[in-house]
Amino acid sequence: MPIRSHREDTMTVTYEERLRNFDWRLAADELGWHQGEPLNIGWHCTDRICARGLGGKPALLWEDFRGEERTYTFDDLRQLTNTFALWLEDLGVGPGERVCLFMDRVPELYIGFLGVLKMGAIVQPLFSAFGEDSLWTRLDNAGTCTIVTQQKHVRKVRKIVDRLPGLRHVVVVDADPSKPLKERETALDLHGLPRVDAYTVHPTGAETPSVLHYTSGTTGQPKGAQHVHMSILGQYLTAKWVLDLKEDDVYWCNADPGWVTGTSYGIIGPWANGVTQAVLDAGFNAEHWYRFIQKHRITVWYSAPTAIRLLMKEGADLVRRFDLSSLRHLCSVGEPLNAEAVVWSEQAFGRPFHDTFWQTETGCIVITNFPGMKVKPGSMGRPFPGIEAAVIDPKTGQEVEQGKVGVIALRPGWPSQIRTYWNNDAGFRAKHIGGWYVCGDQASIDKDGYYWFVGRDDDVINTGGHLVGPFEIESALLEHPAVAESAAVASPCALNMEVVKAFVTLKPGFVGDQDMELEIMNFIRKKLSPLAMPQRIEFIEQLPKTRSGKIIRRVLRAQEFGQPVGDLSTLMND
Ligand code: WT7
Repeated sequence: MPIRSHREDTMTVTYEERLRNFDWRLAADELGWHQGEPLNIGWHCTDRICARGLGGKPALLWEDFRGEERTYTFDDLRQLTNTFALWLEDLGVGPGERVCLFMDRVPELYIGFLGVLKMGAIVQPLFSAFGEDSLWTRLDNAGTCTIVTQQKHVRKVRKIVDRLPGLRHVVVVDADPSKPLKERETALDLHGLPRVDAYTVHPTGAETPSVLHYTSGTTGQPKGAQHVHMSILGQYLTAKWVLDLKEDDVYWCNADPGWVTGTSYGIIGPWANGVTQAVLDAGFNAEHWYRFIQKHRITVWYSAPTAIRLLMKEGADLVRRFDLSSLRHLCSVGEPLNAEAVVWSEQAFGRPFHDTFWQTETGCIVITNFPGMKVKPGSMGRPFPGIEAAVIDPKTGQEVEQGKVGVIALRPGWPSQIRTYWNNDAGFRAKHIGGWYVCGDQASIDKDGYYWFVGRDDDVINTGGHLVGPFEIESALLEHPAVAESAAVASPCALNMEVVKAFVTLKPGFVGDQDMELEIMNFIRKKLSPLAMPQRIEFIEQLPKTRSGKIIRRVLRAQEFGQPVGDLSTLMND
């Protein structure tokens, strides 16, 4: 397969030119892949980069909250992912089976991700802050056979393992020899194993399932968004054109691979481009972040509005105490990027954040501000070439007039789009209207073709860029002995845009006081995650319902945002 290096200055190519000549085959050509040939993300992100002569180049500059550091070259990655893949095979894991990675951002997470793909299994990354209920729901739904985790998280797995008959192996990557492992548990000392230099990568095809990310909707439990190996075409090209990655960049993505940004652009996109990426396995701290950028001479930074707002709170003076002159290009994703944040970043870093819009389901950036394109602060930009987008009326499926609000719709068929929801194809089909895939977001398009985000078109809560489904929270609330009924809705928050607020009716004999509020909050934090934990709980006598008894969240949500509640004529208890 011909291996070429592709360097060009993206700034010199205009959006219009890219549109005119666009064909996804461009990505396939640059990756040296032809239709019908095997295609494997794990191989492309490691072996192919080494074959291009970049084996000795740093792939991962890793650092954790204690300041421990490690560097891995592309050749290290290639060998360690081989080692991981072979070890899993020897354990009896087969192609197509689901392997969950339940870890902090430790090197084993990144290596494991590509290792699972290399041996042809499906990788299911889950956020390590998930509690036992969130974990169980997703492992049960996926029929996961193996979970790879750390000593510090294994106790959550132990609580649910008896309710997961299909889970054959619990792999601990940093097992403490003084703590005995339980049944089904195996220690894996990846760095202590002899490295595997030659490994036959499973010949996955373009349509072979690769990554399974769970995402929340309004109804039902979270859905498994099913990606395929072909997604790399979209992730590769958008990383190159939108994040503007070039071979000598040092790139930093703030996202955790438990979420799609952390895999599409925290693993696949940058490494398919042979770019060095830095990972900081630590929570938010403005000074620490700036020191990290300064130390690694980060050039391209992919962040999120909540993080930018946190940085804004610390002020531009703090920025000036560091040498951040290496920064060349800044992008943002996950929530609306306020115009103030764009203006502030221009003042603080001398560069604007470029907004990018996409979803777990789209797999790659679909609407965006390209480098060199005029940024209209507050707008998400324009569709990526090869993405046919529109704003439609969700009832009729017809495009709305320019400037009018409708829902964002995309014409299916780009390489990174998910193929279905795991075990729930009907759920995926239901998101299509008149040949469009409907995102669930409201927006309008201006006369220049720029998209302006308005809000979610459903009850999903976006807290700090993370989607949380009301159903999952309400189901967990019902498990609390005092709760009779509940509704989880978004409530405005200056920092996280939205937080979860729960309206709760109690069973007779329970008192809705502050102790009860704290008890319920903690209950949800442990069962689900800190993100899903209601920041506020309001105890009420009765929830607003339709005549057929369905709780109407939109009434409560409207109250929270001080908006008109709309037509209440169908309410039962008004
Ligand atoms: C939802 C998708 C895609 C990676 C992160 C989240 C919201 C995403 C933007 C943006 C306004 C945005 C939408 C979208 N969203 N990017 N630039 N402006 N809202 O992936 O968890 O699947 O969430 O996040 O509501 O549908 P996800």
